[in-house]
Amino acid sequence: MGGEGVDGIEDTQGGFGVYVHWPFCKAKCPYCDFNSHVRLVPPDEARYIAAFRREIAHMRALSGPRNAETVFFGGGTPSLMAPATVGAILEAINEAWPLTADAEVTLEANPTSVEAERFHGYRAAGVNRVSLGVQALDDADLQGLGRMHSVAEALAAVGIARSAFDRVSFDLIYARPRQTPEAWAAELRRALAEGCEHLSLYQLTIEPGTPFERLYGAGKLILPDDDLSRALWDVTQEVTAQAGLPAYEVSNHARPGAEARHNLVYWRYGTYAGIGAGAHGRLVSGKIRHATFTERSPEAWLKRVEAAGHGIISDETLSAAEQADEMLLMGLRLKEGLDLARHARLGGRVDPERLATLEAEGLVALNAGRLCVTAAGFPVLNAVIAALAG
Ligand SMILES: C[S@@+](CC[C@H](N)C(=O)[O-])C[C@H]1O[C@@H](n2cnc3c(N)ncnc32)[C@H](O)[C@@H]1O
Ligand code: SF4
Repeated sequence: MGGEGVDGIEDTQGGFGVYVHWPFCKAKCPYCDFNSHVRLVPPDEARYIAAFRREIAHMRALSGPRNAETVFFGGGTPSLMAPATVGAILEAINEAWPLTADAEVTLEANPTSVEAERFHGYRAAGVNRVSLGVQALDDADLQGLGRMHSVAEALAAVGIARSAFDRVSFDLIYARPRQTPEAWAAELRRALAEGCEHLSLYQLTIEPGTPFERLYGAGKLILPDDDLSRALWDVTQEVTAQAGLPAYEVSNHARPGAEARHNLVYWRYGTYAGIGAGAHGRLVSGKIRHATFTERSPEAWLKRVEAAGHGIISDETLSAAEQADEMLLMGLRLKEGLDLARHARLGGRVDPERLATLEAEGLVALNAGRLCVTAAGFPVLNAVIAALAG
């Protein structure tokens, strides 16, 4: 537990957003360690709506009056929710934190045909952006990833999404077993040909406790070595930049102006309410920044909210030093970099010698008061952050 900001600083920069977690999936993908659960009996959405309403009211009391610039329904699989459920939650959010006129409201969706049928309903409920988990444009690899959709079904869902929404993004996972730079370049070009304004491109990560970790440990899942990973990274940067969707964050690419504003709230170290099971929040009340975390188990979360009005199991006051560390960690992920004056107001300090070394190595650069990781630095971002934060 920490204390107040340096000299009682109240830092509300970076925008305000609301994250809503829907913790259910049809099946568990073998690579995924998100807080997602498979249930034979579908959840009682009316009961969840009532619980979301109560938790939103509780978080509103912590945050004080703010306007929501962004809302993000993440999961799990939020596209399993009925559009009316999404509409009811949005209404409660709007009562608590009136949405700005141009608020970005995103919903994460799986690209199956059943879910695509609901896209127009989400639009009518107030969603104005979708992010689809396409993951691969190769049927054998989709099977290997344990996905429940084919390439054709996923691309059909992208088409339906584009007819319903002006703003569509999709996710792909690369550095998959046996993937070559040539095959990835072709896949990426095909993805870009869909004409979406935004793509999230994640390197496959082996997460603890997943079936992929066990397969990897047993030598049954072979991932690209460092050289091949680097070649795949380079292809990603080249092909997306040529198509006009350069990286603005380590794994996120957009046409200029089409960046995901909700995620920018995290990376610019803004303020956000985290609602639902296993959601993180950062709420500023006066001079205190709270780090909130809710119960992960959906049923236990529901019971807590029904009994106490919220599912928060941890509410920590972040010290100025902790805030400065988080701000650095988040800000360096962005191409625009970290605002050094804001970082310094929280007492954050970047060691001048280490900075000079990284600059001399061409891994970071100073640009109009911002500390930015360079194109050469991004592939080794973790090492750069470790050097600066250590
Ligand atoms: C909350 S998840 C998924 C949303 C949605 N349920 C889906 O699967 O389409 C967000 C994204 O994280 C990425 N992801 C999840 N686990 C990953 C892993 N182990 N390695 C790389 N990317 C991963 C996937 O691209 C996924 O679409
Ligand atoms: S990747 Fe998506 S669908 Fe698969 S288990 Fe994770 S959250 Fe669920």
